[in-house]
Amino acid sequence: TAADRPEEDTVAFTVADDIAWVKFNRPEKRNCMSPKLNRRMKQVLEELEFRDDVKVLVLTGEGDAWTAGMDLKEYFRETEEQGLWAIRKSQRESYGWFERLRWYEKPTIAMINGWCFGGGYGPLFGCDIAIAAEDAQFGLSEINWGILPGGGASKVAQELMPFRKAMYHAMMGENLTGKQAEEQGLVTEAVPAERLKERVLEIANALKKKDTHALRATKWTMRRMVDMTYDNGLEYQIRAQEALHSFGGAAARKEATRQFLDEKSFKPGLGTFDT
Ligand code: ACO
Repeated sequence: TAADRPEEDTVAFTVADDIAWVKFNRPEKRNCMSPKLNRRMKQVLEELEFRDDVKVLVLTGEGDAWTAGMDLKEYFRETEEQGLWAIRKSQRESYGWFERLRWYEKPTIAMINGWCFGGGYGPLFGCDIAIAAEDAQFGLSEINWGILPGGGASKVAQELMPFRKAMYHAMMGENLTGKQAEEQGLVTEAVPAERLKERVLEIANALKKKDTHALRATKWTMRRMVDMTYDNGLEYQIRAQEALHSFGGAAARKEATRQFLDEKSFKPGLGTFDT
């Protein structure tokens, strides 16, 4: 059973063609997040983060769920039985890896193959791009069992969805399909289930060709600016661009400009320069 599953097996991953495919791997428990899974996920993310053969990370789920949220037994009931120290420890473990994902060094794609509930909104938001199967199901089910959407979930809904839609979503405990999640801003795009992997691969392959350092600076700038004024955002962008120079950004830009203006081998409006 899933409770017996060794910590190491709660997350599965493979690396192929510069893409890391990471899976929530408790399909018999609909991939709900136990303290074991949370600890293992943090390790796996850190292990993959600086590998030269990982340019993009995809987070998906084994079986018919992405993740059914926090594990009501192992994450809530059993920690509550042990006391406040256990509750806080398990909160730090889960929020910890959600945070690592939000500020990940490499671009990340959530490939939502099925159920995505409650606590799952943390890693959903942590991924830079989110592609869902049209028939995946998204829910803030917290209200259905008498709690509020915590662990970041209500913030994620408020941040990504139009306010009226987010409020309804949080209060009603009704699920959205992948298609509706796309319409309401919760995911980037929804595609038929049979095209899900193909579409994610297409995006991952496009990201692989872009300048790694510029991508990292871009995603962090987009996230960082959420609570900045226009002027602070502008200042941050200037500093972030200048910081890129210490990773060879000045030379990269010079080379790209040369390929466009002199060699005429590419057009920035139509594709990526040859890194
Ligand atoms: N916590 C603990 N166990 C879970 C969870 C969960 N979040 N989700 C599924 N499971 C377990 C079930 O208890 C069941 O265990 P068992 O085989 O030992 O009986 C097993 O996973 C399979 O689940 P079923 O309910 O039988 O699967 P089904 O496909 O019929 O339904 C569904 C899937 C809709 C996802 C259902 O399992 C469900 O409602 N799960 C809870 C979703 C949820 O509300 N999550 C919490 C969000 S709030 C938060 O994260 C803070």
